[in-house]
Amino acid sequence: MEVLRVEGPARLRGEVAVSGAKNAALSIMAASLLADGPITLERVPEVSDVTTLSQLLRHLGMRVMRSADDVVRMETIDPSRYRAASDLVRRMRASFCVLGPLLARRGRAIVSLPGGCNIGARPVDLHLKGLAALGADIRISAGRVIARAGRLRGTRINLRGPHGPTVTGTANVLCASVLAKGNTIIAGAATEPEIVDLGSFLIALGAEIEGLGTDELAIRGVDQLGTARHRIIPDRIEAATLLIAAAVTGDCFTVRDANAEHLQAVLDVLSAVGCQLNVEHDRIRIDRRGRLLPVDIVATPYPGIASDVQPQLVTLLTLADGTSSISDEVFPNRFAYVSELRRFGAMVHQTGCGVQVEGCSRLRGTQAVARDLRGGAALLLAGLSAEQTTLLGGLHHIDRGYQRLDEKLRQLGARIERRRPLREPHAQPASIDERLPTAV
Ligand code: EPZ
Repeated sequence: MEVLRVEGPARLRGEVAVSGAKNAALSIMAASLLADGPITLERVPEVSDVTTLSQLLRHLGMRVMRSADDVVRMETIDPSRYRAASDLVRRMRASFCVLGPLLARRGRAIVSLPGGCNIGARPVDLHLKGLAALGADIRISAGRVIARAGRLRGTRINLRGPHGPTVTGTANVLCASVLAKGNTIIAGAATEPEIVDLGSFLIALGAEIEGLGTDELAIRGVDQLGTARHRIIPDRIEAATLLIAAAVTGDCFTVRDANAEHLQAVLDVLSAVGCQLNVEHDRIRIDRRGRLLPVDIVATPYPGIASDVQPQLVTLLTLADGTSSISDEVFPNRFAYVSELRRFGAMVHQTGCGVQVEGCSRLRGTQAVARDLRGGAALLLAGLSAEQTTLLGGLHHIDRGYQRLDEKLRQLGARIERRRPLREPHAQPASIDERLPTAV
């Protein structure tokens, strides 16, 4: 169990490149089950969620090979498989995205219901509703979805839920509908760039889809899909996290290979709190010298502020000159990281619908543990701006979605390193000092 040792406050300079988008790569790799030949994906991030999905796809009869330059080559070698290894599905929710492609291509699927996680309730009722509407016979038994289908049939489906559209639900139903007989309309579809990227990949395979990027997708089912080579879009959540790093440390650097269009809502907030931004094609230069201004934020589906950036923005606003309020319409209870953030001296209070943040001039180094991916990134950013040393545990959460984030921050000048603890932590730590073993 590694910990990160961060010496603060950091001074960050230079430039850093963004990797490929985890949430696009995952749904596109799952969609590769639909293909009738070899697939080549470029800019696939080297993160543990991608590794988990690669293992799952191998279990499902695919050859998955990664080469050093972030290229992944895939091909189905045994199309008879339809049981998704439950330990892998439970490890990572996005594995549930194999359900639609398996049903459409192999007519059968057995996939465990994904577990919950620290960011809130994660039902899959909309996924199942959409697939059943396309004609799949779906039963839930012993925590598993058991699904069967002849050729799926096109129809009209509304995928809008109580918290707006569903991203992976749209991915599952879209993948199932491209091989269905006839036309499908998906109303209330997610408009996230990761869904547009999935749609572009499916079109490259030979699918017929209109309306990508809007909340209504029109799909004309085809009899067969082919092969494709596809470059994954840049990771807008990673880019946002890096830009916020400059804002929390009061520095100036360039994030390259990013897509500024996908980041507009975040760039608007960074300007509103007082950062200077210069956007040239795929390079975003950020400069934060003066004091930070408070702002109120509501996380919403795209093109609003992504729920996956909300925790990092809360860290930023703990350093603002005044009071800010933050709520999240996508995952209303996504504030489990707040108790850890308070260990840095942050003044964050839970309110009925989110948190209120009283800005302070400086955070102080501490020992903290990441409990989920983006909450972990928020704590790392706090460590970068804090005085003295921070020890951050729970790195496996951060490694799920960031490709070598600590190395990238070191490249910008952060004094940050991974350490193996001197002694194994207790299974159920009683106090803060036992939560993180003393690192040398
Ligand atoms: C995707 O999760 C992302 N994960 C999440 O990123 C991201 O936070 C989320 O979209 C929202 O943008 C991947 O793409 C792998 P949803 P997903 O279905 O698809 C409710 C990260 O940090 N809902 O769009 O699972 C649900 O409870 C991860 O990279 C239903 O009610 O999220 C939530 O409130 C974390 N019924 C809302 O919809 C359903 O069947 C949006 O969830 C499905 C969802």
